Amino acid sequence: MQKLPVGIQTFSKIREKNYLYVDKTEDIFNLIENGEIYFLSRPRRFGKSLLVSTLEALFSAKKELFKGLYIYDKWDWNKKYPVIKLDF
Ligand SMILES: Nc1ncnc2c1ncn2[C@@H]1O[C@H](COP(=O)(O)OP(=O)(O)OP(=O)(O)O)[C@@H](O)[C@H]1O
Ligand SMILES: [Mg+2]
Repeated sequence: MQKLPVGIQTFSKIREKNYLYVDKTEDIFNLIENGEIYFLSRPRRFGKSLLVSTLEALFSAKKELFKGLYIYDKWDWNKKYPVIKLDF
């Protein structure tokens, strides 16, 4: 049985150490694609910090952390944010 990530809110730690992660990346993908501004009005321990940490890993293009998850073959891993333009 996989270890439960009790008290762990860092996505990379959960994935690297093989803790159980319930795949929320389909919802995360839809949030990114369809909306603009969100207010995370959720009670304690509902996964807000882990969500933000997952977004950070996504926008940093940490592809290897997402292997086996919904978003893996849907995300453009060539883009890293912030996108720095050097052609000034
Ligand atoms: N998708 C998930 N899969 C597995 N465990 C999860 C998932 N989302 C949250 N958890 C677990 O639930 C617990 C609470 O998550 P987190 O700390 O992100 O919540 P929070 O809403 O930020 O809580 P708080 O309001 O206390 O700051 C943690 O142990 C975390 O690992
Ligand atoms: Mg939190």
